[in-house]
Amino acid sequence: MKKKLLFLLFFLAFVSPIFAQYTPTAENLAARKQFADDRFGIFIHWGIYSMLANGEWVQNNRNINYKEYTHLADGFCPSRFDADAWVRLFKEAGARYITITSRHHDGFSMFHTAQDTFNIVDATPFHRDVLKELAQACERHGLSLHFYYSHLDWHRLDYPLGRTGRRVGRPTDQQNWQSYYDFMNAQLRELLTNYGAIRCLWFDGVWDHESDAQPFDWHLPEQYRMIHSLQPACLIGNNHHRKLIDGEDIQIFEQDLPGENTAGFSGQQTISQLPLETCMTMNNTWGYDITDKNYKNTDEIVKNLVRAAGKNGNLLLNVGPRPDGEIPAEAVERLREVGAWLKVNGETIYGTRGGIVAPHDWGVTTQRDKTLYVHILNLQDDGLFLPISGKKVKKAVMFNTRKPVSLHKSANGVTILLPEHPKAVDTIVEITLN
Ligand code: GLC
Repeated sequence: MKKKLLFLLFFLAFVSPIFAQYTPTAENLAARKQFADDRFGIFIHWGIYSMLANGEWVQNNRNINYKEYTHLADGFCPSRFDADAWVRLFKEAGARYITITSRHHDGFSMFHTAQDTFNIVDATPFHRDVLKELAQACERHGLSLHFYYSHLDWHRLDYPLGRTGRRVGRPTDQQNWQSYYDFMNAQLRELLTNYGAIRCLWFDGVWDHESDAQPFDWHLPEQYRMIHSLQPACLIGNNHHRKLIDGEDIQIFEQDLPGENTAGFSGQQTISQLPLETCMTMNNTWGYDITDKNYKNTDEIVKNLVRAAGKNGNLLLNVGPRPDGEIPAEAVERLREVGAWLKVNGETIYGTRGGIVAPHDWGVTTQRDKTLYVHILNLQDDGLFLPISGKKVKKAVMFNTRKPVSLHKSANGVTILLPEHPKAVDTIVEITLN
C-alpha cells in the first residue's frame, strides 16, 4: 500500500508534468490580449555586427574567424546611444512595444550576463548594459519590453553545430548539448529576473538543425515551462516557421503577413487562433547595412500595418541602429511619419481585431465591438460592395470627415458609395453595426 502511494506521489510530482499540456495563466491571457490590442511594435537588431555595417549575418556570410570576430567587441563603444531618445522616438512612432536582440546568432550578449564574458559589459570599453537602460526607459514611457533570443550560436564551442556558422574556424570536438542548454537556460533566467516584466521572449534559429539526418531535440517544452514558471505572463514566440509547439503564446510570420508567403519563410499551413505577429524590415536587412538604401516608403509601411491589423495581427517593424547608437535618418523619418498617421487614425487600429469582412484586394476591415472600419487601400471605383447582411448595418460615415456615406442594401450585402474618390493612403469608412 505504502509502495503504491509512493509511486503515485512520484508519478504526480515528476512524470505527469512531462505529459501535461500547457495551460496559460490568467495573467498570460491578459498579456495576450494586451499584445493583440497593441498592434504595433519596433524590432531592434543591434550588436557588434553593426560595426561591420553589412547585416547581422556578416560573420557567417564572410566566414569571419570566431576569435577574430571578438575584437569587434574590443572597439564597440556606441558614444551616441541614448535609450531614452530611442524609446521616445518609438513612442512618437505610435509603437506600443519594442523587441530587442538580447543575443543574436553571433553569440554576443547585449546585456550583462554571468554566463559568458562575451557580453557588452565585460567585453567592450562601453561597459554599459543597454538592455537595462532600455528596460528603464520603456518603464518610464509605458512601452512593453520583448527580448529576441537566438537559439543558435556561432561563437560557443559547446553549441552543437547546425547548418550555419560552419566556416568560422571553431574546433568541433567540444560540442556539448547539455552544457549549451544549461547556458541558455541560465541566461534566460537572468533576462527574466533582472529586467522587470518581459512581455515576450522571441526565439529564433531552431531551423539551424532542420536539415539534420536525425530530428534535433531542442527541449523547447521544458525551456518554455521554465520561462512560464519565472514569469507566467511572459508570451513565448518562436520564429521557427513551423506549426506551433505546446507552450507558445503567439504565432510569428517573417517578412509576410499571415497567410501570405512571398519571401518564403512563412509557409505555416495553419493560422493560429493565438495572437499573430509579422516582423518586417524597413529596408532589406535587419542589422545595420551601410549600403542598403532600399527603404519602403511611409505609405507602404502604413499599408502593411493596416493590412496586418485587418488580418488580425501585429506589425513588428525593424530598425537597425548604427554602431554609434544612432538610428539611421531614413528610419527616423519614416517612424515619425507613421506616428503622424497613427495619431489621426490610430483609433481604427489599436484595440481592434480583424473585422467581419475578410481581407480583399481593395483592402481590409478592422473592428471594435459594433464599429467596423473599412480600410480602402486600393480602389479604382467610388463604390464598394461589402458582403454583410443589410440588416446588420445601421450607418456609415467617412472616419476622418464624418461625412455620411450612402448605403445601398441588397439581399447579399451592402454597397457603400463614397462622397469622393479615395485618394488617401488609407481611406477609412466607419460603419456602425446593429
Ligand atoms: C531570420 C534571420 C535573423 C533575423 C530574423 C528576424 O531568422 O536569421 O537574422 O534576426 O530572421 O526575423
